[in-house]
Amino acid sequence: MKTKAIVFDAYGTLFDVNSAAKKCKDKIGDRWEEFANFWRTTQLEYTWLRSLMNRHKNFWEVTEDSLDKSMRIFKIDKNLKNELLNLYKVLSPYPEVKNVLKNLKKNNFKLAILSNGTPELLKELVNSNSLDNLFDDLFSIEEVKVYKPDSRVYEIPIKRYKIKANEITFLSANTWDVSGGGNYGYNSVWVNRNKSEFDILDYQPNNEINNLTQLLDII
Ligand code: LAC
Repeated sequence: MKTKAIVFDAYGTLFDVNSAAKKCKDKIGDRWEEFANFWRTTQLEYTWLRSLMNRHKNFWEVTEDSLDKSMRIFKIDKNLKNELLNLYKVLSPYPEVKNVLKNLKKNNFKLAILSNGTPELLKELVNSNSLDNLFDDLFSIEEVKVYKPDSRVYEIPIKRYKIKANEITFLSANTWDVSGGGNYGYNSVWVNRNKSEFDILDYQPNNEINNLTQLLDII
């Protein structure tokens, strides 16, 4: 099936979620990376738990709640909270992102983000990294107020573009998001940046790449 739109996950796929803590690593100390991973894991757990409990709160609030818990566990100075949150709004993209997007755009693909992030957060992320004119759409789960991997999320671009699920090539570095989108019917691409193992969830991705540059070879 021919790809009509390329849809990217945002956090962890286009933007480095650890880059906020990395920029404060001198203040956080040796365990900065462990802290960043704990924050990310807690943030995702809270999204899944809230969706299962039917108690939605937006991604920015969940990010703050999970930061509060992580700072308590790692005994991080409270004064760092605002700095970390502000840095999270302007996370750095992975180095190859801009060039790959420009190349795809040149080839007339429809390009979009589909993310847990709020519309405001996604806008600020792409604007602060000068990527704003490369995307056709920034789809947020706030449209359906339930988090990935609920199938109502993956339905958003299908409804908007009026195309079939397998006409979307969906990229995520988050294994569970690849399974979610693939299970929904997308042509899935796992961006496996760290030579990880895939999940055992009765689903295997259609493609696996190590960084986004390789997408240009398989599309
Ligand atoms: C997102 C999370 C899953 O951007 O990374 O939706």
